[in-house]
Amino acid sequence: MVIMAASTAAPAFQAVLERIADEIGRTPGRGRPAGYIPALAACDPRSFGMAVAEPDGTVYGVGDWREPFSTQSVTKVFTLALDLAREGDALWEHVGREPSGNPFNSLVQLEYENGIPRNPFINAGALVVTDRLQTRTGDAAGELLAFLRAESGNPSLDFDLDVAASETAHGDRNAALAHFMAAYGNIDNPVPALLDQYFRQCSVRASCADLALATGFLARHGLRADGTRLLTRSQAKQVNAVMLTCGTYDAAGEFAHRVGLPGKSGVGGGIIAVVPGRCTLCVWSPGLDERGNSVAGVAALDLFTTMTGLSVF
Ligand code: DON
Repeated sequence: MVIMAASTAAPAFQAVLERIADEIGRTPGRGRPAGYIPALAACDPRSFGMAVAEPDGTVYGVGDWREPFSTQSVTKVFTLALDLAREGDALWEHVGREPSGNPFNSLVQLEYENGIPRNPFINAGALVVTDRLQTRTGDAAGELLAFLRAESGNPSLDFDLDVAASETAHGDRNAALAHFMAAYGNIDNPVPALLDQYFRQCSVRASCADLALATGFLARHGLRADGTRLLTRSQAKQVNAVMLTCGTYDAAGEFAHRVGLPGKSGVGGGIIAVVPGRCTLCVWSPGLDERGNSVAGVAALDLFTTMTGLSVF
């Protein structure tokens, strides 16, 4: 891994990042941090960081790009990849790949769709993925953490157990989703054990640099940082495709329209994005819009694809 500090001489990506940070810094109105747990509500909405990683591990960054934040739903991409690598297409019998058009924590579709969530990136779908990964590994959150440490080259990444405990204390909705799917036979593990895994998964703290690097396997068509294969080329395409269509919940159409890249957001204010074959990005700013996506994060990715012409379209 080659770390390029924000101040070092300027490959094209570094100059682009600095222009974006400048533009974002002059834009008022950054949304509001998630308010449902104190650890997220306390974040400063003026924080902003962005990193770009090339497939060889060279990484560029600007602003708070080395500052760890709560990854939350961004982790859903990695658990999806880890489970897909193990069980292949059988996963898709338990979770769909269509946009839900509903908020990420919605219950409404589950009953008339027989406990099969629309996609792996709404909470219900992520719970199914974590449940299946838990069955296959005995420690879904531990597998995720080991993967993130290895791909980012940062062994200090860890869970934030205070955040996980806080999520548990406010976890009635996720518990309802998991119990409801269990009633349809679509959850294998005891619900409290599954929720423990899921909340630890969401609590991982990592920086933009860490996440841009850890997402690299999706730009490398399934190859990990060490050159071994996690996903087939076709599976990497599947993950990128579901990120594009479902990664920003009921705003996925708007995100594709503005940014034109596979992306995945979390309520901690992080968003990862992929330019297959070219680079991966992570942007962080904790102020969210009403659908749970980072306001400055989406704006920065919009600027990136506009300035560079790098999109999948
Ligand atoms: O499941 C939850 O409520 C959170 N721990 C994760 C939510 C999340 O990040 C959804 N994102 N936009």
